[in-house]
Amino acid sequence: MKFSALLLLLCSILFLAVSCEDEELILASGDLLDIAYNPTPYEMIQPTGFPMMAIPADNPMTQEGFELGRRLFYDVRLSKDNSMSCATCHLPELSFTDATAFSTGIDGEMTRRSSMSLVNVGYTATGLFWDGRVQTLEEQALQPVTDPIELINTWDVVEEMMKTDAEYPAMFRRAFGIEDTSEVDSLLAAKAIAQFERALVSSNSKYDKWVLERDFSYEYTDSESRGQEMFFDLGSIPGGSGVKDAECFHCHGSALLTEGNFFNNGLDEYPTLEDYEDKGAGEVTGNIADYGKFRSPTLRNIELTAPYMHDGRFQTLEEVIEHYSSGVHFATNLDPDLRAPLNLTEGEKEDLINFLKTLTDTEFTENPAFQNPF
Ligand code: HEC
Ligand code: HEC
Repeated sequence: MKFSALLLLLCSILFLAVSCEDEELILASGDLLDIAYNPTPYEMIQPTGFPMMAIPADNPMTQEGFELGRRLFYDVRLSKDNSMSCATCHLPELSFTDATAFSTGIDGEMTRRSSMSLVNVGYTATGLFWDGRVQTLEEQALQPVTDPIELINTWDVVEEMMKTDAEYPAMFRRAFGIEDTSEVDSLLAAKAIAQFERALVSSNSKYDKWVLERDFSYEYTDSESRGQEMFFDLGSIPGGSGVKDAECFHCHGSALLTEGNFFNNGLDEYPTLEDYEDKGAGEVTGNIADYGKFRSPTLRNIELTAPYMHDGRFQTLEEVIEHYSSGVHFATNLDPDLRAPLNLTEGEKEDLINFLKTLTDTEFTENPAFQNPF
């Protein structure tokens, strides 16, 4: 190659580099400013009997943030091979679980525990996951993308995808007021996903209508009422009906149907607490007394979220009730409320299950606003 030709080549490479840089300069100087930033507050309902949801001051709920979060939640481009999204393991029709004991990630490996329902997840104040290891939905939302079993991607790749997408930059602008595409990042994406998740409020079950709102058109059948009395130990209070106490409300109580705390509910028997294969909350606290304890999850939509427990060991509600009736194993940290076997009759088991089914809310699972936007 002649010297002049080489010079020409060098010049053009240099020119290209400079013009590329120029382009970034232009991007970094407000390419989104033409789009209006005027977010609409997201109207959070305050259902009867529910506590206030704690919403972080630096991530207020907006309609635009919710819409962006929904799109990200269902976007398969969050995974390395564009095959899976959050919704693959959290399906709306199953109250955002996936009907398997363990979920399969994009490379065919199994998650260590069972996928969790995201119903009313915004109310969880005691730490997320079965063991409570993560405190906020914002923090949690960053994890599945880079998880080595779940989506096996990097945020660099996902950020690049979002920046070059036809719609995301404008959506980030409308939700968060960023001024140019270069500001699109994982932290804002996580905030948007958290907003979508906080909106996943279920409060239209028969339980809400009858027990919390006293709407007579949803009055319980006799069996459902007996189940409710068993669940909340109402039969044994003075003047009560005398039905057996089932003790459930101690751990699955309140309008949320969970107290959000961590318990050993007697699933396994081991010689000592140190022998628990999955140490659950103990893995997080490091305290032996917490080995084998897991978060008592909400029982809302429980009819839709089989299989049950952190390892999906029970296929049906009948099996769960059988566990509490006669299958509780001893452990030194077994909760005192589970120490005496309930020995339920067939009729009592049926009543409890009929009550549990009043916690189903299909208005929630079928809400068009929560479905896949793609
Ligand atoms: C491969 C399946 C899979 C994918 C993909 C997945 N999850 Fe999960 N998710 C799980 C499993 C399994 C758990 C329970 C893990 C545990 O407790 O150790 C869980 C738990 C959660 C929880 C905790 C719920 C609670 O009540 O504490 C949240 C929130 C959540 N996932 C949100 C997401 C979001 C957001 C995404 C996408 C960014 C996502 N998940 C992607 C399987 C998945
Ligand atoms: C001492 C506290 C405690 C009591 C009492 C209790 N549970 Fe639980 N429950 C738990 C814990 C903790 C878990 C999760 C355990 C795990 O997965 O390791 C759980 C899990 C469940 C699940 C499965 C949830 C899911 O999403 O997989 C159901 C259903 C359930 N309990 C129903 C009941 C019923 C009905 C009663 C009363 C007969 C009851 N529980 C009494 C603590 C309790």
